[in-house]
Amino acid sequence: MESDVDRWLKDLAVPFLKRVGIQPKQRILDFGCGPGFYTVPAARIVGKRGRVFALDKSAKVLRELEQRAKIESLSNIEILLTSGQLVIPLDDDSVNVCLLYDVIHSHYFTHQRRITILREIQRVLKSGGLLSFYPSHMNFDTSKELLESIGFECIGTMQATLLHYYSLKEDRILNFVSS
Ligand SMILES: C[S@@+](CC[C@H](N)C(=O)[O-])C[C@H]1O[C@@H](n2cnc3c(N)ncnc32)[C@H](O)[C@@H]1O
Repeated sequence: MESDVDRWLKDLAVPFLKRVGIQPKQRILDFGCGPGFYTVPAARIVGKRGRVFALDKSAKVLRELEQRAKIESLSNIEILLTSGQLVIPLDDDSVNVCLLYDVIHSHYFTHQRRITILREIQRVLKSGGLLSFYPSHMNFDTSKELLESIGFECIGTMQATLLHYYSLKEDRILNFVSS
């Protein structure tokens, strides 16, 4: 039987990320990318002339992602293994879209560290760039207010089927633009 991960990667992920707003030739940062369930479809959409920066502090999940990228012959994914530091090794105003899915909840981040990483994401995003945020394990309204307090402008809520922890789920994400 087809697993949720297979179904996600085969049929659902690309339409989901196109709906988010990812387009060919863009530069994408997938912060806390995990095994690449969003990185790989983003790389398919941006194509050879785009780039996806897959950043995570876990070498194990990044190895899984590398395997997936290899199977699909995707050469436009750049792996960024970090120590968990809150400095993103990318230039100011250098990415069109940042995916921040299921990362900054209390399992990994304190309130102060959340603020630091959101400011850092703002630094690397181009003006008018998109931050797509999945507030998994977080209060939806409080998260929205936090991002707005940093200076992100909410441009919409998106209800969708998405992949969370190897399972498909109906949930909401929030999309913001960086000013
Ligand atoms: C629950 S997983 C989500 C993975 C992926 N975004 C998804 O939605 O499928 C959270 C990921 O964030 C990574 N992470 C947590 N804190 C981090 C930090 N400070 N820097 C880089 N990665 C981090 C973890 O290693 C883990 O792979």
